[in-house]
Amino acid sequence: MDSPQADVKTTRLADYTPPAFLVDHVQLDVDLRDGQTWVTSTLQLRRNPDNSQQSASDLVLDGECLTLESLAIDGEPVAADRYRYEKDQLTIESVPQAFSLTSVVLIEPEKNTALEGLYRSNGMYCTQCEAEGFRRITFFPDRPDVLARFTTTVRADKKRYPLLLSNGNPVNQGEEGDRHWVTWEDPFPKPCYLFALVAGDLACLEDSYTTSSGRQVSLRLYAEHRDLDKLDHAMLSLKNAMRWDEETYGREYDLDIYMIVAVSHFNMGAMENKGLNIFNTACVLAHPSTTTDAGFQRVESVVAHEYFHNWSGNRVTCRDWFQLSLKEGFTVFRDQQFSADMNSAAVQRVENVDFLVNHQFPEDQGPMAHPVRPAEYQKIDNFYTLTIYEKGAEIVRMQYHLLGSEDFRRATDLYFERFDGQAVTCDDFVACMEEISGRDLTQFKRWYSQAGTPVLTVTDGWKEGEYQISFRQHTPPTPGQAEKQPLMIPVRLALLDEAGEPLPLDAEGNREKVIILDREAQTLSFDAPGPVTPSLLRGFSAPVVLDYAYDHDQLCRLLALDSDGYCRWSAAQRLYFSALDRLVKGEGSAAAEAQTLLPVLEQVIGRADEDPAQAALLLSLPGEVALGDRHSPLDPGSVHVAHQAMKKALGKALQTHWLSLAENLIATELEMDGRAMGRRQLRNLALDYLAASGHPEAQRLAVELFELPLCMTEELAALRILVHYNLAGANQALAQFAERWSDEALVMDQWFAVQAAVPGPASLPRIEELMAHSAFDWTVPNRVRALVGTLANGNPSAFHSPDGEGYRLFAAALTRLDRINPQIAARLANAAARMAKLEPGRRGQLQNALQGVKKQASDNLGEVLGRILGA
Ligand code: PHE
Ligand code: ZN
Repeated sequence: MDSPQADVKTTRLADYTPPAFLVDHVQLDVDLRDGQTWVTSTLQLRRNPDNSQQSASDLVLDGECLTLESLAIDGEPVAADRYRYEKDQLTIESVPQAFSLTSVVLIEPEKNTALEGLYRSNGMYCTQCEAEGFRRITFFPDRPDVLARFTTTVRADKKRYPLLLSNGNPVNQGEEGDRHWVTWEDPFPKPCYLFALVAGDLACLEDSYTTSSGRQVSLRLYAEHRDLDKLDHAMLSLKNAMRWDEETYGREYDLDIYMIVAVSHFNMGAMENKGLNIFNTACVLAHPSTTTDAGFQRVESVVAHEYFHNWSGNRVTCRDWFQLSLKEGFTVFRDQQFSADMNSAAVQRVENVDFLVNHQFPEDQGPMAHPVRPAEYQKIDNFYTLTIYEKGAEIVRMQYHLLGSEDFRRATDLYFERFDGQAVTCDDFVACMEEISGRDLTQFKRWYSQAGTPVLTVTDGWKEGEYQISFRQHTPPTPGQAEKQPLMIPVRLALLDEAGEPLPLDAEGNREKVIILDREAQTLSFDAPGPVTPSLLRGFSAPVVLDYAYDHDQLCRLLALDSDGYCRWSAAQRLYFSALDRLVKGEGSAAAEAQTLLPVLEQVIGRADEDPAQAALLLSLPGEVALGDRHSPLDPGSVHVAHQAMKKALGKALQTHWLSLAENLIATELEMDGRAMGRRQLRNLALDYLAASGHPEAQRLAVELFELPLCMTEELAALRILVHYNLAGANQALAQFAERWSDEALVMDQWFAVQAAVPGPASLPRIEELMAHSAFDWTVPNRVRALVGTLANGNPSAFHSPDGEGYRLFAAALTRLDRINPQIAARLANAAARMAKLEPGRRGQLQNALQGVKKQASDNLGEVLGRILGA
């Protein structure tokens, strides 16, 4: 990061040194008592033989918000003048080569609203230690390259906390009056960020799994009693993931127990703690009546993601937090492969790319841009970004394609075997790819160190009877990185003739080819009998922006006829964008634009039954935010008007199709398979267009669906349409929904989100009212994201209200939230990252609002605002 706040510490990759001390064993005793928790820890420490430079005899441990009660070395109290605890570090002078250190500290989980370390959630105790939360539990060298074996005893009141969990296997237990205790032992050395503890009164869904080598693993999913009926989908997903990782990567689970605990208060999606995952309820609970189809798919992928971390993250972990993408990028790639195998691969790929280009690309092109392996940070929490996760996954995917699936598997086998039990780097990962393939990936590794989205400009023409295609790559500057080097960019391509058939590209008759670009400019020639439509970046073979001047007919050909799902979708996006761009600039009319799209969209609709989910993706307009990103200076008001006009025009032009899709795709029985979900997706889209067109049937169909839904996907879509188009019965539906679902937190999140997404400045008073609603709760991240996050990220026409009212609400929310949960405040603040692109009036208003917030901001929020404000 190039613009650190003056008073905040910056951590640099270049400064990495191995730990001075290693911890062989940790014995933790956590005594949970109302109002305060006693933590006694005994660390077996010894000087790191691999660290020759550091001869200092002082021991330095991390510790935040700990009240130190006592300290002993090898059982002897440490004199007060031999240690100091200041600035979140405990320093003990002249310690021996090897010794045990016992500390007793007091902590206050009841007061912990930051949800880092030990905290409470709906009457239970739980922990979150990644990245640096363990230091809020006890003194420790809190860094991922210190791996220790943990033995943990949890003590609490028997009645209120019948369940006491930690990592590994239970090895002992006992009772003392109305209290009890359980001791857990984790045989695998692990970094402290993987530590977890849970105490509560929870229901359990239990099952078992037999690994490929025949070991029995007990699978236990825990949730509040009322949610016991929402765990089946997660259990099925877990078993599928376990089998898949054995078959695809040869990875078997290694402990006798695998536990997942659902908690309502959670900063992220879920956490891969060894043997004891802790999940945001939103990523593990699922039931058709309360969870949308998208929610079901999220549960499947997050359960798999956390499970896959057991190898990519836990058995082989990160040397330091600059290597975060080593585990996250790789694990996202693995969960994407899994979801592709479990569902429609083409649809999955388009959904992943859609997410990347509409969310990670803007991050990579704005003030928060950073390399997949950053060079420095202030707060590591701010680096759990789409760049680390999603772009990181694309970098692994490119290596997968460079090597081919067989060599990639050999390379990952080598990686897991060679580095098992170690903390390693992205270089170590790539080295395995190099060793197996015999390729030199030195240039490829620039993908890890260079920020920004490369733009690949493609031109073509005819020369001496040959078709020539030229590529030029350029990566625009990003904060702190003005100059960029050429990257290795794999371009998978085909050349389509006028009938949409791929032409043979070489003497062997291959109709698809991967070209590896590694210079700034390259040109290739092909024999082609007639006009050519290049089908480029097939499967989205590299995370770049493709700039090629397609004409309308070429895009229609790709959309209608290409065999590659990504290229079809991308062609559709280009068609929509070029129409929308003209409307934003005040050129042409929406009705005329819709007419030119009509023939090709009718072709798509005609084939919708082949794959309804894919049809829904192809027929969806790009979002308003993505459209806005193409216009500078950005006037979100005119973008909104153009977007609405286009939607309405497409609604009208294809009205009879929407009506028949909305009516014919109706199901009479609930099914939860991929095809049924795809049909619902298409039907909801059709109903949305129908409502946009103003057809009276839309209201009737929506009310009907809302009154008698088969599942939450139907109910919520109907509610959204009624409310967003302000149709008759909207308010009644909102009230009815709130009444039906008042004690289902995840459903009520949706109720807040639907209202926060009502377009236009007129919805701001209602949103402000909702912030004061009795069901609104600033301490629950899911609820905050549903209301404030939806306003700031998903409702540009309200957020950017010309009078600055949206910014005022946003700023007030950030300030309020920052005192409760700095990580969530900082994450939300990212919604302002487009500030510099706004037209001057709004830019000034947003800037003022944020400057006010920054004055009293936490380190987390301050870092993000500092980058956005350029200070
Ligand atoms: N490591 C978690 C994952 O699987 C994410 C996470 C990070 C959760 C930090 C909590 C805190 O991606
Ligand atoms: Zn992860």
